[in-house]
Formats: sequence, C-alpha cells, structure tokens
Amino acid sequence: MVSGEYVDNLSAIDWGNVSKVSIIACGSSYNAGMVAKYWFESYAKIPVEIDFASEFRARNVIYDKKGVYIFISQSGETLDTLSALKEAKKQNVTTIGLINNLNSSIANLSDYLIPIEAGVETSVAATKSFIAQLMKLLNLVLMASKQKNIITQSSYLGMLSDFNSEIAKLCDILSVNRKIIEISKAITQAKNVIFIGRNHMYPICLEGALKLKELSYLPVFAIAAGELKHGSIALVDEDSLIIGLAPKNDVYNKTLSSIEEVKARGAKIVLLTDSKDNIDVEYLFNMPKCPDILAPLFYTVPLQLFAYQTALGLGRNVDRPRNLAKSVTVE
Ligand code: M6R
Repeated sequence: MVSGEYVDNLSAIDWGNVSKVSIIACGSSYNAGMVAKYWFESYAKIPVEIDFASEFRARNVIYDKKGVYIFISQSGETLDTLSALKEAKKQNVTTIGLINNLNSSIANLSDYLIPIEAGVETSVAATKSFIAQLMKLLNLVLMASKQKNIITQSSYLGMLSDFNSEIAKLCDILSVNRKIIEISKAITQAKNVIFIGRNHMYPICLEGALKLKELSYLPVFAIAAGELKHGSIALVDEDSLIIGLAPKNDVYNKTLSSIEEVKARGAKIVLLTDSKDNIDVEYLFNMPKCPDILAPLFYTVPLQLFAYQTALGLGRNVDRPRNLAKSVTVE
C-alpha cells in the first residue's frame, strides 16, 4: 500500500532547492521512471530528465550540483545502472536508489535509499515490482510537493489514505478474466500490436508493450498517440490490433481522435477507458474510475494480464522467457 514510512530517510533533501531530477534506469524500471517524470512535473513542479542507464553512460552528461539523481532498479545489480551511479557519485551529486533487493550494489552505494518493498520477484518479467515502484515514486513526488507547499500536509495525508481505498478497486479488474482472455486471443491473431496513449499513459503503453513482447515474442510497439502520424501509422492495416489507453482526462478527446485515425485504416481496436461514452470499437475494456494521478497504476494491471494470458495461450514459459535474465549484469 502507499505509505509515508520511508519519508524520514529522505528528509535531508530540500526539494525547494532541487533544480531538476534526473532518472536513470533500464527496462521496466525506466518505464516506471517515465511515469514519475510526468508526476514530478505536474505535482511537484520540478523539471525531470530521464535516461536509459546505457545512454546516460554513453552521452556527455552535464551534471547539475543542485540536481537529484534517482537510480531505479528491482535487482540493484543491473550493470549499466550501477555504472551510471558510480559515475554520478564521482561528480558529487545527490543520489537516490529506488531498489527492491536491499542487499545489492546500487542499494549500498546510493546516498539515499527508497526500498521498493515488492518482496522477492522470481519471474523474469517485472510485474509486482513495477507496480510497487510506481507507488514509491508517487509517494516521493507527493512528499516533494508537500515540502514545497504545493499541497498541504493534511491533503498529502488525505491523498495517501484515499489512494489506499482507491487501489482496492483494482480487484474489479481481476474479476473480468473472460474479457482478458478474449482480448489475448485477438492479440495472438494480429499481424502487429500497437499500444497508444498520451501523457502518463505513454509510459504505460511502453510497459504494456515490453511485457507483451517479452512473454509472447510477438511484434509489439508502443507509440505516443500524437506521434502516430509521423511515421508509425504506416504499420497499421486491417490485420493490426491497436490497444488504446484513454482515461477520461484532459487528453481523452485527443486520444480518441488517434483511435479514429487507426480505425479508418481498418485496424481492430481494444480501448481501455473509464468513460461511459458510447464508443464503437471491437473490444471495450471498462476501467474503474480513479483519480487521474493513479491511472498509471490502474491501467498497468490489465496490460500485465493481457501479456500473461497471451503467453499462456501460445504455450510460452511465462516465468522464464527465452533469451532473458532476471538481472542483467553484463553490458
Ligand atoms: O533489476 P532492474 O530493475 O535494474 O532491471 C531492469 C530491466 O532489466 C528489467 O526491468 C526488465 O526490463 C524486466 N525484466 C522486464 O520485465
């Protein structure tokens, strides 16, 4: 659950004086970091840059002494993330490790530590650790927001307690297994599968696509909805399946316009939305209503289940997909 317990660990950071946040991670941890970029900028008014750890190492990073550098890793041993952290430490900047395995190199080396507290995750696909990373990152953002007086202490505590009851609604998603299996069959039959979304749904598209491709080995893409017409829409035809994420928020109408564009090319559509609008698509997946800030957590769950059911349907090993290791300790 969302808790404020680890906050004391970080109380020495003066968020009002932080000029920017840099987030460095790989794979699913990177996708969680990208959600945090949207959250930090919207709710704590702090600019964020985010890098794959390998690219952070590859480029000439201009370090900012007033910046905070957040390294996200389930295993705490990913070589690129660890090497990037070592580089940042040499530059004497503030580092935070958001780590699940507390007996790990990254956990030991970071100035501040946020335990992900997902428990041991043995399957190669990051699932519960991804959700737990989002929860911890959300808590961090709200804590920074409170410290900067953007939200008050009482609204901070109120939000945390509301979130805990909201998150119980996730169980509603787990009870619609029949629909998940139906959509998984459509995924298997498609020539290609493309996730589209905007704003904080874009990193959830990246995560949904990563989970689906690593477990099913199908050709899967994730595209920021506004980018479709800049090239990727050429992939779309009547054999494509588009999975659109459209919570009813400020960018809802724009996302629906993108859905219309791919529909016009004959693609079949899976639409995940909490809107009650009458939308004509092949597969409408009704999501529970939740505060928009929590939508990344909510929309992740069905995507993980699509990946799981698709992989099962194809007879893949859902815990040990081919060519992958749980912890990537080589370059
Ligand atoms: O242990 P880490 O979080 O540093 O691992 C990073 C990636 O290798 C990892 O998230 C990978 O993308 C997942 N296994 C995908 O499900």
